[in-house]
Amino acid sequence: MTENNVVISKGLEGVFISDTTLCKIDGSKGKLWYRGYPIEVLAEKSNYEEVAYLLLYGKLPTKKELSTFEDRLKDEREVSEEIQTIIKTFAGKSHPNDVLRTCVSALSAYDEDMSDRSNDANMERAIKLIAKMPTIVAMIGRQNRGKEFIAPRNDLGHSENFLYMLTGKKPDEESARLIDLMFILHAEHGSNASTFSTLVTGSTLSDVYSAVVAGISTLRGPLHGGADEAALKMMKAIGEPDNTESYIESALEGKQRIMGFGHRVYKAYDPRAKVVYNYLKTFMKTTTDEHVEKLLEIAIRAEKLMEEKLSKTKGIWPNIDFFAGPLYTAMDIPSDLFTPIFASSRMAGWTAHLFEYWTNNRLFRPLDNYVGELDLKYVDISKR
Ligand code: ACO
Repeated sequence: MTENNVVISKGLEGVFISDTTLCKIDGSKGKLWYRGYPIEVLAEKSNYEEVAYLLLYGKLPTKKELSTFEDRLKDEREVSEEIQTIIKTFAGKSHPNDVLRTCVSALSAYDEDMSDRSNDANMERAIKLIAKMPTIVAMIGRQNRGKEFIAPRNDLGHSENFLYMLTGKKPDEESARLIDLMFILHAEHGSNASTFSTLVTGSTLSDVYSAVVAGISTLRGPLHGGADEAALKMMKAIGEPDNTESYIESALEGKQRIMGFGHRVYKAYDPRAKVVYNYLKTFMKTTTDEHVEKLLEIAIRAEKLMEEKLSKTKGIWPNIDFFAGPLYTAMDIPSDLFTPIFASSRMAGWTAHLFEYWTNNRLFRPLDNYVGELDLKYVDISKR
């Protein structure tokens, strides 16, 4: 409270911005539901296409509805020569998330009628964006490794096809399931920073492309989606599992943040991180890759130490971004693609939120509390 009776909520902490039926987070119990379905159930039983449908249309699809939706996504996977040229021009010069952002922005040029703001037209845009983003991300990854682009395969599922386009190999059953699991877990998460910035842009009655470009840009930072890449960087810096405890302890003593830990809403274990953690422990028993094995052990030991040091006392638990690195590494996914993959998956949540917000739109226009001087005397530049 200031002298003007202004209450400032830094970072909009604790501020509700709208009603929603998309997502419920119980931060104190560590629970998450998409459209009322517990995340653990969707992670176990569903697939990304079904989850995207659920988010966009508000209900689980029938078999026929799902198959039509999947076919639409498959029809839209390819990207034009011009988009491929953008990738060839900028990949390697800019971070993959920035190249993705530029490509998504350029996709608006292919919209046949930007003035059509009907629900049907917007849903078509969402489908195109969800379908094309994994292709763009895979192409960026290929370009960065000096490899030819690989065309999508229509006999493969959404995320499985992404891995195929990136690595050039049809994923085995376990990798296909794991990448799909990661897509499901990243699909939606309430009014987080990137969804909020999507809504802020959308609330001016701007268009779908502009709004989601704001989301992609906001996701990039290490306090949000960029934490997955930063967490793996830390694990690599730790190097040997036996260094884990000393590294984390000295980082905490130096008041550093441990990337992949903490959350504005969760003060309990992030349920998405728990799903991944459980998977990771099983995966650890089967992997034969020494490098991945080390990363997994570092992640597990860091989690244990943090639990003793900070989780129980300060409510700083692992978030979804912490365990992604070792698992993506096992699938031969380079770390600079982690955030763009997150963005590809979150496109379903961003667009679903945008369409929901537009049903009862109100321009975002908060206030700031001016604390500077007033009525200063203007001095001519020659006399300053
Ligand atoms: N490591 C060590 N200490 C931490 C961490 C962390 N990762 N996160 C928070 N803290 C400490 C802060 O230093 C602060 O301590 P203090 O009270 O002694 O000053 C206290 O916990 C509260 O921190 P805030 O920054 O006020 O909490 P906020 O709600 O703003 O933070 C955030 C949330 C930004 C996610 C934070 O936990 C963080 O920086 N985490 C690391 C980055 C990260 O993993 N981001 C991904 C989040 S999930 C996602 O976006 C997909």
